[in-house]
Amino acid sequence: MNWADILASVEHDPEITYLNTGTSGLIPKAVHQATMQWREKLHHNPTDYVWRAMADELWKSRARLATHLESSPERLVFFSNISQAINTFCLSVDLPQGSDILLSDHEYGAMRWAWERAAQIRGWNIVPFALPIETEDSQEIVAAVERSITSNTKLLFLSHILYSTGLVLPIQEICARARSRDIVTFIDGAHAPGMLPLDLSTINADFYAANLHKWFLTPVGAAFLYCDPCSKHHLRPWQVSWGFSEGELSATERNEFGSTPWIRQFEMEGTRDLTSWFVVSQSCDFVESLGYPAIRARHFELSSFVREALSGLGGFQLCTPNHPQLRGGLTSFRLPANVGGQKLRNDLWQKDKIEINVIDLGGCQFFRVSTHVYNTMEEIETLEKSLRSMLR
Ligand SMILES: Cc1ncc(COP(=O)(O)O)c(C=O)c1O
Repeated sequence: MNWADILASVEHDPEITYLNTGTSGLIPKAVHQATMQWREKLHHNPTDYVWRAMADELWKSRARLATHLESSPERLVFFSNISQAINTFCLSVDLPQGSDILLSDHEYGAMRWAWERAAQIRGWNIVPFALPIETEDSQEIVAAVERSITSNTKLLFLSHILYSTGLVLPIQEICARARSRDIVTFIDGAHAPGMLPLDLSTINADFYAANLHKWFLTPVGAAFLYCDPCSKHHLRPWQVSWGFSEGELSATERNEFGSTPWIRQFEMEGTRDLTSWFVVSQSCDFVESLGYPAIRARHFELSSFVREALSGLGGFQLCTPNHPQLRGGLTSFRLPANVGGQKLRNDLWQKDKIEINVIDLGGCQFFRVSTHVYNTMEEIETLEKSLRSMLR
């Protein structure tokens, strides 16, 4: 693989050092082109776009993504972002009052809020537990989850890859252990597609949601929820539009809208731009043309370079494990108390046009560097040089 060519194959501004795919990815040129074509169609004849083009395109995207994820199209519901998928879930999932919902202490802040609000409305208890985030042994993570389970635990909500440190969790084993104790699992896989090969049928979570606009390089506005439509948990949309029905909805019969009636109750939210969903196939093509072994190897190579370049710099403390199974394209450093993380982030952008992220969590600041296949060693050197001059 000639990695130098990959940066040229995505939409980017050469003046910018983009090391923040963890927030949103750069778009491959082929995906961008398809996006522009669809937007042009929308602007030239919105009626045709909304009423005629949709059916085929939507099902094609769903089927293509299902193949990529080792799933079936009837189990995949598109959403605009994972926040929407998780909010839909936690506001409608059928769990008794008084249930304990287990969440790790490294869940994405806004998703923790979604659970806290739902718990307040539904009378559940949110039970946080600590993850051993710097361990080099995946069994320690499994054990930490198991220790936190009690007879009142009804649901486990856990990230596949931590947004704070990039730790990759042994999610398949955790889901199997939870299932054996009759606990519902919801996995927040926001960072997983495009970073890890995903086989959703083998992971076997009850519910798995992810963003496609991060590492999968689909334009902003694409996410999915994987679930069994016949699950006893009776998911319902919170936004009512033409897909809504008080009665039973078929989960198997394909309809004229590129969905099934069960899926459409979530996807039909009134008139809007569905282009990001239509171009999921082109993102699948891009990711598959590289292949996950090459993607994983490139992430390992680049993140190893980040670790070497920034460790110890100005008191930066590496907190992403070294074990290749426990890391991917995200690398994080705990910042010392005397470094203002948000100011540092701002300065990197204002002075040197470098994009990274700083995450405030549990009284710590995590300096997070994302390295995807289009990033280069030179960009990491640019970041290192800039940091050296700022932290002097
Ligand atoms: C782990 C995790 N969950 C959920 C989200 C929310 O993503 P979105 O804003 O696209 O809904 C993010 C965003 O970075 C995340 O990292």
